[in-house]
Amino acid sequence: MRIDIISVVPNLMSSFFEFSICKRAANAGLVEVVLHDLHDFSTKKHKQIDDYPFGGGAGMVIAIEPLTRCLDQLMSERNYDEVIFFSPDGLVLKQGLANQLSLCQNMIFICGHYKGIDERVREKYVTKEISIGDYVLSGGELAAAVTADAIIRLIPGAIGDESSALTDSFQDGLLAPPVYTRPASFEGMDVPEILRSGNDKLIEAWRHEQAVKRTMERRPDLLHD
Ligand code: ADE
Repeated sequence: MRIDIISVVPNLMSSFFEFSICKRAANAGLVEVVLHDLHDFSTKKHKQIDDYPFGGGAGMVIAIEPLTRCLDQLMSERNYDEVIFFSPDGLVLKQGLANQLSLCQNMIFICGHYKGIDERVREKYVTKEISIGDYVLSGGELAAAVTADAIIRLIPGAIGDESSALTDSFQDGLLAPPVYTRPASFEGMDVPEILRSGNDKLIEAWRHEQAVKRTMERRPDLLHD
């Protein structure tokens, strides 16, 4: 998988991709994340990439020229399955969408900033718009990093334990059950006896029961989706 991320502040994301699970996946040859600084595609003085909005109003808009220059160059080099723009207007990211995107070969992520990007880029190039929640961020960079992480960890081999991405919260529509490690007893708090019974069938049944209980208590909405 290859993810090209276009941003006006790519440095915001560089240490995330340098130190997260994504780096491990990159080292294993499973993913390549390429950050592009939109300023490098400006032909203006001082590498300007934004301009005032037509019709007036506060804030600047990322201009069409540097964005299309960057997109056209990338698209002339390979085919992309998706061109994703991060915006509060988009489809809210859920596990199902991450699962779907983890099957893509090549994707472009566009991070907005300021008041947004020229609408014509959305019309001509963007195939999906994603929001990471109903709140407004200062830019799409954190949303791009969140989405990339949710996708990359699903690539087989990206995380240590092959099965663990599939046992995550949400994969079966339930929250994850509680987990414990040693010591078995700490200041009067004991690990549930059943987890130390060695009986895999009983342990599995207990975990499922706990997952259902936790989901009913904390996120009953997930049970009705
Ligand atoms: N850009 C600004 N706010 C955002 C959000 N909530 N999700 C994705 N991208 C955004």
